[in-house]
Amino acid sequence: MKKNRIRLFKPALSNKEIFEIKKVFSKSWVGYGPKVKSFEKMWSKFFKVKHAVGVNSCTAALHTALAVNKFKKGKKVLVPAISFSASAAVVIYCGLTPVFVDINKDDLNMNFEDLKRKFSKDCVAIIPVHFGGHPCHMEKIIPWAKKKRLTVIEDCAETCGGIYKGKKLGTWGDYGCFSFEEKKIMTTGDGGMIVTNDEKKIKNLRSFSFHGWDKDPLLRHKKSLSKSSGKINHWDYDIKELGFKYNMNDLMASIGISQFKQINWLNNSRSNLIKLYMTQLRNCKNIKFTFPYELRNASYWMLSIRCKKRDQLIKYLRKHGIASSVHLKPLPLLTVYKKYKSKIPNALKTWKELVSLPLFPELKKTEVKYITNIVKKFDQNFKNFKK
Ligand SMILES: Cc1ncc(COP(=O)(O)O)c(C=O)c1O
Repeated sequence: MKKNRIRLFKPALSNKEIFEIKKVFSKSWVGYGPKVKSFEKMWSKFFKVKHAVGVNSCTAALHTALAVNKFKKGKKVLVPAISFSASAAVVIYCGLTPVFVDINKDDLNMNFEDLKRKFSKDCVAIIPVHFGGHPCHMEKIIPWAKKKRLTVIEDCAETCGGIYKGKKLGTWGDYGCFSFEEKKIMTTGDGGMIVTNDEKKIKNLRSFSFHGWDKDPLLRHKKSLSKSSGKINHWDYDIKELGFKYNMNDLMASIGISQFKQINWLNNSRSNLIKLYMTQLRNCKNIKFTFPYELRNASYWMLSIRCKKRDQLIKYLRKHGIASSVHLKPLPLLTVYKKYKSKIPNALKTWKELVSLPLFPELKKTEVKYITNIVKKFDQNFKNFKK
């Protein structure tokens, strides 16, 4: 095989996206507009929820979902010890305190027993993260959270369309927040979506994502051209509460519409590649899979393995032109989160062994075979690699 350089992630983009982009270009309307509305409609239909709100990142989605609940400053939010920093940052944006919950030994998700231990009467919400696309134990978390009157914000940044115990991820909690950042299951460059059935908060969710306006800017525009304006000035609006500039635009939505039409293929191709990785690496003595991958109805984003000589393996992969990474460092190890220190023994042990390998829909089977042969060579010569 010729000299490889294999990326870790790569969005699957083609003429299908160009076709949708051309449509918005031809209308000269790339900002917030009808495409965002169509994209949101596709989402609420697919997820069978009352509302979907397009935003410009999952960070914005999480922040918005938490902020509209207006929790008293200083209250606490339960967050997994291993996640992307945004899952905890939004808690601090809202003047709340993150409480880090340890992870399970056999995946990277919140440990239910530790969740119960870390709960205190100051806790107001919980952000379960389906890390790498592996579902959290929602069948335990939801009834418990309900009993404790906690708002549940599912961080679905790393999954899209996965079904767990017959229910779509993102619809178990009060809000489901998704990411369309370039490396994710599907992309709009950057972008995000909130799905919810919360009728009481929907007005505020939309308003918060557009500066706090009490009018939908698209409706305002439409009224500016309608023949009967009535007594109300179409241009008028008020801001009763401060919001953010978090809205999605039509350019993003046009890419999203095309990507979303391909969601089954995006998920299935990743699942098939994971299956191949698992077959190829099944006899390795020193390599274990991070998750007990369940590939039926799955939406996995990450191919993650564990290896006691993690840094040596990463170096070896790099030497052979294979990109890899570590997802992720426990949050309490990062400088800004140190003051929220918490007992998280599983997270502190596990993360030192994590290695992510290339996974994206257009990764070729021959490339997976090349990667796994290199990993197998490392495994066979394990004792010769010095720590
Ligand atoms: C678990 C998790 N939450 C939140 C985010 C933030 O997503 P975005 O980049 O769309 O803001 C990410 C992105 O990597 C993530 O992995």
